[in-house]
Amino acid sequence: MSDEQLDLLAHRLNRATRVTILTGAGVSAASGVPTFRGSGGLWRQFRAEDLATPAAFSRDPVLVWEWYAWRRERIAACKANPAHEVIARWSTAFDRCTVITQNVDDLHVQAGTANLLRVHGSLWELSCWRVCGAPSWRDESVPLRTLPPSCPACGGLARPGVVWFGESLPHRELEAAAAACDCDVFLTVGTSAVVYPAAGFVHEAKRRGAFTAELNLELTPASAEVDLAIHGPADQLLPNIAQRLTP
Ligand code: APR
Repeated sequence: MSDEQLDLLAHRLNRATRVTILTGAGVSAASGVPTFRGSGGLWRQFRAEDLATPAAFSRDPVLVWEWYAWRRERIAACKANPAHEVIARWSTAFDRCTVITQNVDDLHVQAGTANLLRVHGSLWELSCWRVCGAPSWRDESVPLRTLPPSCPACGGLARPGVVWFGESLPHRELEAAAAACDCDVFLTVGTSAVVYPAAGFVHEAKRRGAFTAELNLELTPASAEVDLAIHGPADQLLPNIAQRLTP
């Protein structure tokens, strides 16, 4: 990270009226939430791709629920960090700001973010695995009362209210995220930029004429594509940029 890079992004944000921010696990890292890839990304010997699929859940729902129960327990002890707080402030500071998150921890909700699209769902919401027709429900109990939990309507198996590999993103969120690619500045923050369709939004924004910037600890496949790639921890970069904005 250099002062010139931070000033350039602040300058672009100062002139922007429509800002879109895509976030990933790196935004919650300083809160103590484990990321999916990189060091500390494995649970037991499993990768997210081994567990977060309908096939893995069909095969062994107890194993998959144990992973989610472990993540719920970790995340219940975590608090929003300065990266979430800056994003929450920015979410109401521009004429239009949309925050698209892949995170299922709800720390953006805790920080009070407006106009938030949770494109991968929430760890705190459950739904019926058999799709009996019951609406999804919120369950913040830690530990879960039963493992695996069951559907209160039909008594069958419940599933986490998150989007798994091979599943579609929720329609309303996907449409709204696609519309938010029409913006002046598109920021991608703390994501490895490998999981689609979310990873495609920054390319779409650039195609539509946005100034695109990435804030991430490491190089990603998006780094070479964006107009500006700044490397560093999100909880330090975002407050630093926020200080450079004209009030
Ligand atoms: N600040 C900024 N970036 C960070 C920080 C930090 N403090 N810590 C880690 N990172 C970066 C890592 O370098 C990595 O590039 O955040 C990125 C996190 O990448 P992933 O773990 O792959 O998380 P994410 O991109 O959100 O994953 C996308 O994959 O498993 C699925 O559904 C899951 O939503 C998730 C999706």
